[in-house]
Amino acid sequence: MNTNFKTNFIGSSVTDEMEETELIGEKIGHLLKPGQVVALMGELGAGKTCITRGIARGVGVSSNEKVNSPTFVIMQRYSGKMTVYHADVYRMETSEDLFNLDLFEMAEEGILIIEWADKFIDDMPEKTIFVELKYLSESKREIAVFSNSKNIQSLKF
Ligand SMILES: Nc1ncnc2c1ncn2[C@@H]1O[C@H](COP(=O)(O)OP(=O)(O)OP(=O)(O)O)[C@@H](O)[C@H]1O
Ligand SMILES: [Mg+2]
Repeated sequence: MNTNFKTNFIGSSVTDEMEETELIGEKIGHLLKPGQVVALMGELGAGKTCITRGIARGVGVSSNEKVNSPTFVIMQRYSGKMTVYHADVYRMETSEDLFNLDLFEMAEEGILIIEWADKFIDDMPEKTIFVELKYLSESKREIAVFSNSKNIQSLKF
């Protein structure tokens, strides 16, 4: 796995509950610009969907829109200040499958959030915001953000 993105460390935080993880997502969402990709990495139950809920809120998606793991539908779309495309590539096997979905083209003017991006790190575009979520205990998660995009450098935890 290419872990070059780790040289672009912005910050990290340990959250004690779901709401705190959502809040970090919301702060990221506020900073996002059209065309940006958020790659979420972390095991089952790490909080990828939870932080997506926050990101969507930060992008202005109405709380009436249900943000759930799109495992079976692969991609969901929400409308906010920008359109948010929420994908889950857990069941995808090859990079070719990923590119055949045209996710990156589809989300060119919106925000693309990818759960299980760990599987395709090397396929993520240059400007990607990498968010690594680690399960520490039932209610604690460590969240680390990596990006070389200028607009994300001001993220405060
Ligand atoms: N600090 C925390 N941050 C985020 N989620 C937490 C935290 N503490 C407990 N949780 C719980 O962990 C679970 C995280 O689930 P979530 O669906 O976001 O994970 P996921 O990474 O998307 O999993 P999957 O790989 O199945 O899609 C939720 O049930 C949430 O309530
Ligand atoms: Mg999920």
